[in-house]
Amino acid sequence: MADTLTITDNRTGRQYEVPITNGTIRALDLRQIKLNPDEFGLMTYDPAFQNTASCISRITFIDGDKGILRYRGYPIEQLAEHSTFIETSYLLLNGELPTATELESWTGRLNQHLTLHENIKKFMEGFRYDAHPMGIFLSTVGALSTFYPEAKLIFDEEARHTQIARLIAKVPSIAGYAYRHSLGQPYIYPDPELSFIGNFHAMLFKRVGSQYTSDPVLERALDVLFILHADHEQNCSTSAMRGIGSSQTDPYVSLAGAAAALYGPLHGGANEAVLRMLAEIGTVKNVPAFVKKVKDGEGRLMGFGHRVYKSYDPRAKVIKQTAYQVFEVTGTSPLLDVALELERIALQDDYFVSRRLYPNVDFYSGLIYEAMGFKPSIFPVLFAIGRTVGWIAQWQEMLLDKDQKIARPRQIYLGEQERNFVPINERIKTEP
Ligand code: CMC
Repeated sequence: MADTLTITDNRTGRQYEVPITNGTIRALDLRQIKLNPDEFGLMTYDPAFQNTASCISRITFIDGDKGILRYRGYPIEQLAEHSTFIETSYLLLNGELPTATELESWTGRLNQHLTLHENIKKFMEGFRYDAHPMGIFLSTVGALSTFYPEAKLIFDEEARHTQIARLIAKVPSIAGYAYRHSLGQPYIYPDPELSFIGNFHAMLFKRVGSQYTSDPVLERALDVLFILHADHEQNCSTSAMRGIGSSQTDPYVSLAGAAAALYGPLHGGANEAVLRMLAEIGTVKNVPAFVKKVKDGEGRLMGFGHRVYKSYDPRAKVIKQTAYQVFEVTGTSPLLDVALELERIALQDDYFVSRRLYPNVDFYSGLIYEAMGFKPSIFPVLFAIGRTVGWIAQWQEMLLDKDQKIARPRQIYLGEQERNFVPINERIKTEP
């Protein structure tokens, strides 16, 4: 017998059988519950979508209570140990790990698309010298839409695959230009002869006229960080990507919107905020006073807590190990001790324990980026490079999903009922 939920409407005494599939009921099945036939029917109220599945997905699995994260079934820990970002991007987009030939062809395809149109440089020059790299990044990704009008052919498989490769290849180049712009340094052109990460390092750190070789440990660490950030199911920015894309916009403007959502300090902007917080705390002896301020409601402990994880974020575990490998090359950060002390206190303090607040992916990533020589303002952009793959994989899944339509939530209207327009000279000032 199929699983069903029996609902009794106490207002009418009527009973309804609602099918349960995959642990969910369909919200539209509630619409039949009404007092009168001309009524709209019952809806659910779920601000911030805390208990609403907006799609069926086969990309990323999270069990927040157990601290499990898998891409296409593969545990994140195994991918972080054995895979590369390029290979993982293929996996997320196509559902399977590539063969050696497929990987070679995917890498070659990305290398073809690293270069940015020359006018992008002029476009970037319009930004003020102190423009935040994330603002430059998301604007430039949106501007790419005007360079590739064929990107509007989102249901043409070949055209879509071209835009997908372009986006994944070009976001590091945009990030490189945005970073150099914020430093007032000349842009470095991408070099397809280098590895994906080696090229990115060079675009950021190379001195004009000199050779640049990135350290293999740091290169691998950034590769791992990009893998860890690549997808995270229906988070705020991915929901934005799906929501914007549901009106059939091209992927560049959808991705610009997703990047804008990521920019906020509660999401991908948290890594930058963590570093600023650690710098503000300064030394280990100031940690207890800072924790007290957080508990008194004066701000949040950035890099802690998660909507889905109610145990240690599995990405944070991998990042913590990676941090030690990086520090062996770069020397340790003075802020590491502050971070470790914060974590130690928070993990035994009832405020954090009772709310199940644990370090998330952003708690240690900023320390690694800083040790690698990145300025804090580029941290959210680094997150965006990795997450671009997830945004696109989720966008494509949404486009091909017959259940999906333009995203359009309902509301509960509690404002004024109908009233007549009042001419301006008859209006009485109301106190706000
Ligand atoms: N510091 C102090 N208190 C916190 C924190 C925190 N970081 N996070 C949650 N709380 C408290 C919150 O005040 C609330 O307490 P009370 O029940 O007394 O009102 C309770 O915990 C539940 O918080 P919430 O706001 O309902 O939780 P949420 O699921 O809506 O928010 C979150 C999740 C990530 C936005 C939040 O934990 C937060 O603001 N964390 C800091 C920012 C951060 O690190 N963001 C990166 C998230 S991971 C990367 C990504 O995927 O974006």
